[in-house]
Amino acid sequence: MRPLLAANWKMHKTLSEVEAFLDTILGCDLPDDREVLVCPTFLHLHAAARRLSGSRVGLGAQNLHPEKKGAFTGEVSWHQLVDLGVSYVIVGHSERRHLMGETNEFVARKFAAAASAGLMPILCVGETEAERREGRTDAVIAEQMGACLELAAPSGFVVAYEPVWAIGSGTPVDPAEAERVAQAILRTCEARGCRQVRVLYGGSVKPENVASFSAQPHLQGALVGGASLKAESFHQIIRSWT
Ligand code: PGA
Repeated sequence: MRPLLAANWKMHKTLSEVEAFLDTILGCDLPDDREVLVCPTFLHLHAAARRLSGSRVGLGAQNLHPEKKGAFTGEVSWHQLVDLGVSYVIVGHSERRHLMGETNEFVARKFAAAASAGLMPILCVGETEAERREGRTDAVIAEQMGACLELAAPSGFVVAYEPVWAIGSGTPVDPAEAERVAQAILRTCEARGCRQVRVLYGGSVKPENVASFSAQPHLQGALVGGASLKAESFHQIIRSWT
C-alpha cells in the first residue's frame, strides 16, 4: 500500500483559489510511490473532479450523509459523492464530532455507508487534551474505532490519528507516540479481520516536521490541514514523506 498524503481544506478557498492550487500541484513532479489527495468543500468538488480527471491526484469529500437521499436539508449523500466521481471521504473529523455534535454512533453510520458505497473512508479518531491528561487516550480511540467496526468491518480503509489538541495548534504529537497509537489501531483492525488498513497522522503536520512522522514504521501518510492550503507547502510535504 502506498502512503497517502491528504489535504483537508476545511472551509477554506474560493473556486478560483481551488483552480489555481490544482493547476500548480498538477504541474509539480509527484512521486509515483505515494498517493496524493485533496479534499475541498462540497461546493468545489464538481470543478475539482473535472480538473483532476485522469490525473495523479485523487479527490475526497470532507463529510457525507449516511442516507442515499431524502429530506435532510443542507446535507450531501454518499450517492451524490459517488455520482461526482469522488473516491475518498473524511468521516468523523474532530471538528464535526466536537463542533457539530456528531456521536460515535452517527460517525459509524457514515463509515459503514461510505464503505458499502465503495468510497474509501478516512476515519478520524483522537483524544482531547483532557482525555490525554486523564490517561484515557487508548480507551477513547478504542471506543471510536469499536463503534465503526461493529457496524462494518471492511478491508481497505484509512484511519487518521488526529489528537484534538494537536489540530491547528502548531504542536504535533510526539512521533513515537503517534507510532504507538498507530500500532494499537492496527491491532484493533486485525482483531476484527480488517486488512489493508493505512494509519495516517494528522495535527500540525508541516514541511519541517513531516520527516519525523514518515520515519515511523506503522504510519502510512498524513492528513494535513493548514499546511496543505498552499500548493508549495503541500508539495514539500508530499516530497518529504519517504
Ligand atoms: P492541521 O489540521 O494540519 O491544520 O492541524 C489537520 C486536520 O484537521 O485534519
